[in-house]
Amino acid sequence: MSPLTTTIVGIVTILNVLACGWLIWWTARREPGEVAEGDVKSHVWDGDLRERNNPMPRWWLILFFLTIVFAFAYFLLYPGIIRGTLGWTEDRQYQDEMRHAQAQYAPMYAAFAGRSIAELARDPKALALGRSLFANTCTNCHGSDARGAPGFPDLTDNDWLYGGTPDDIVRSITYGREGVMPALGPALGEQGVEEVIAYVRSLSGHPEPAEKVAAGQARFVICAACHGPDGKGNPAIGSKNLTDDLWLYGGSEATLRKTLMDGRHGRMPAHQWLGEDKIRLLAAYVYSLSQPQPQPQPQQ
Ligand code: HEC
Ligand code: HEC
Repeated sequence: MSPLTTTIVGIVTILNVLACGWLIWWTARREPGEVAEGDVKSHVWDGDLRERNNPMPRWWLILFFLTIVFAFAYFLLYPGIIRGTLGWTEDRQYQDEMRHAQAQYAPMYAAFAGRSIAELARDPKALALGRSLFANTCTNCHGSDARGAPGFPDLTDNDWLYGGTPDDIVRSITYGREGVMPALGPALGEQGVEEVIAYVRSLSGHPEPAEKVAAGQARFVICAACHGPDGKGNPAIGSKNLTDDLWLYGGSEATLRKTLMDGRHGRMPAHQWLGEDKIRLLAAYVYSLSQPQPQPQPQQ
């Protein structure tokens, strides 16, 4: 809210509180039964039942005035029209809580510092922490099982846009990633798009008409700049491997057509704010997902 709105709301609130106080005081002040004979406002039922002004019970009045006192005390102590004498602000409370959490949990994360990510990926305690960090920060995009969704990569399949070494994963998490596939449909033309689609699908083993595939292969030179001459992708720019039948957006003809006509632009936000210790635990968890499961330890 802007300061002006806050002030207006504050003033209206105070006027309301004052008006309520006055109304209660005014009605309570009147003597019981002070209703003039023939007063049109004094309703009479059944000939002898008369409306009177009976005072509220005293305890109720006291409670009511206490709430008014409370309201003014609150106005004085907390920020409203004035800044509040306690100096409390939402922001400061948030900072305090974050500092508190940091002091409480940082040692827990720091305990894993200095060990390699591959090693952490075999440590059940590190993985449990990594999994809970993942659940808090990453699942809304990558899914609770890290298997992703169209446009959000599956992190369990060992098919990487940007490389799957521990260092690559740390980089992806820390600095984020951005993949840009240009809209090439207009340049290719309708027939060109169909031929390229046939060639791309043939790369992952889908049967396609041979002459279309050959024509598509000839056109693939413009794609090769980013996806490589063999279509296996380039982790430096996150261009997808097109040969493994694992898809980021999808490998159906309709989806491929959309990719070519409109282009694609995937964004993974930077997570540097998590701090190095948490990022390393997250990377260990992500790394573990595509590693062969560790053999159960022999019983001692
Ligand atoms: C706002 C959605 C979003 C959030 C939140 C998010 N990601 Fe991502 N992530 C993406 C997208 C989209 C990509 C693919 C980027 C591209 O297409 O170039 C990606 C890519 C990645 C990659 C690279 C995958 C590869 O194949 O190379 C890793 C690793 C990753 N994310 C891990 C994480 C982790 C760990 C978290 C939690 C700290 C996280 N992401 C949070 C959307 C998100
Ligand atoms: C300028 C570099 C560049 C060029 C040129 C390029 N691509 Fe891409 N392509 C990318 C990038 C980067 C991505 C990943 C986009 C993302 O992460 O959102 C991508 C994604 C794709 C996808 C999505 C794959 C999936 O898993 O859903 C397909 C299909 C594709 N490209 C096909 C092509 C074809 C066919 C051509 C040539 C006509 C081509 N690309 C040209 C960079 C390029």
